[in-house]
Amino acid sequence: MAASPSETTELRLDPETIAAVDASDMLGDIVGLPEQLRDALWKAESTNLQPWDSPGGLVVAGMGGSAIGGALARAMLGDHASRPILASRTYGLPAWTTPDTTVLCASYSGDTEETLACYEAAGALGAARVAVTSGGKLAELARADGVPVIPVAGGFQPRAAVAYMTVAALEAARLCGAGPRMGAEIDVAADHLEQLVVEWGAESPEDSEPKLLARALYDSVPVIAGAGLTSPIAYRWKTQFNENAKMPAFTHELPELDHNEIVGWHDAPALGRFAAVFLDDSDTHPRIKERIALTREMIGDNATATHVVQSRGDTAVQRVLSLVLLGDLVTLYVAVLRGTDPTPVDVLEALKRRLASD
Ligand code: F6R
Repeated sequence: MAASPSETTELRLDPETIAAVDASDMLGDIVGLPEQLRDALWKAESTNLQPWDSPGGLVVAGMGGSAIGGALARAMLGDHASRPILASRTYGLPAWTTPDTTVLCASYSGDTEETLACYEAAGALGAARVAVTSGGKLAELARADGVPVIPVAGGFQPRAAVAYMTVAALEAARLCGAGPRMGAEIDVAADHLEQLVVEWGAESPEDSEPKLLARALYDSVPVIAGAGLTSPIAYRWKTQFNENAKMPAFTHELPELDHNEIVGWHDAPALGRFAAVFLDDSDTHPRIKERIALTREMIGDNATATHVVQSRGDTAVQRVLSLVLLGDLVTLYVAVLRGTDPTPVDVLEALKRRLASD
């Protein structure tokens, strides 16, 4: 049960309080991001695959926590992506998929039916296939078909394996000629994240950025806006609010939201408590920066809170991962403030079981 707003200031986010709610130690997986990145890089490079040429680019086929790596990799590559790279989240592949396309089938469990359908479809089309998984049916099929598998460490919730899924997507992009080698950038970003873990982790002061944001957001519906590089991260924040904190959350992107969603804020107070979060980046288009400031001002009276959050770091890889880490921590702290164990996703698993028994 969430505490009332008057209790907020008294709610502490010290390591003991966090551990008491975070029974399966999701926090450990979140702050392990730097080490997971290094391990993911080692695992991807150890497959020793020889590059091939896919003029049609790369489709990352997956769902949820396994698909996000494709979208984040695309954001990290920015202008360095020389061919289309697309995260595709459904049963089929984009209509333009041909034998000239590489399809990375990404499923942490290896048992996600949408991803398995894409694996089959890619095979039928004659597209180059790669799998990234910790096992399941996908690993079994890939082994039988001689499809290369980039391994993922076991024991995570799929969404906590974001480092592995992102690095695998970057590696697949490199191998098929859609992107450059990113190993050095990933290593530098891992070092940078070590510092952010200290600044933002459980031992951080009560007024560290994620703890303040968690206190500001835990009793409202977060509406998260991204733009360009931060758009897939806004989606990651939304899904982490959903899965870690078990609360509704929504996302949109600028400049598009200034052409519709901005109007919808008018009646927000009559319908509930909604808070706006804008994810900003040093590389955001200057007109979008202006839009963030103006939109924030113009919806401010109808939101319970408005926040602009900046990415940190020099390279795109650092900046993307800084906001991923921040969002993962904010949503974990919100879960703690709401007294909700962040790890289980019971309803999601119950739905999968029901579909499987059909
Ligand atoms: C659970 C999670 C989900 C899964 C999704 C697909 O932590 O993040 O979004 O990622 O249900 O399952 P996998 O990743 O096993 O293919």
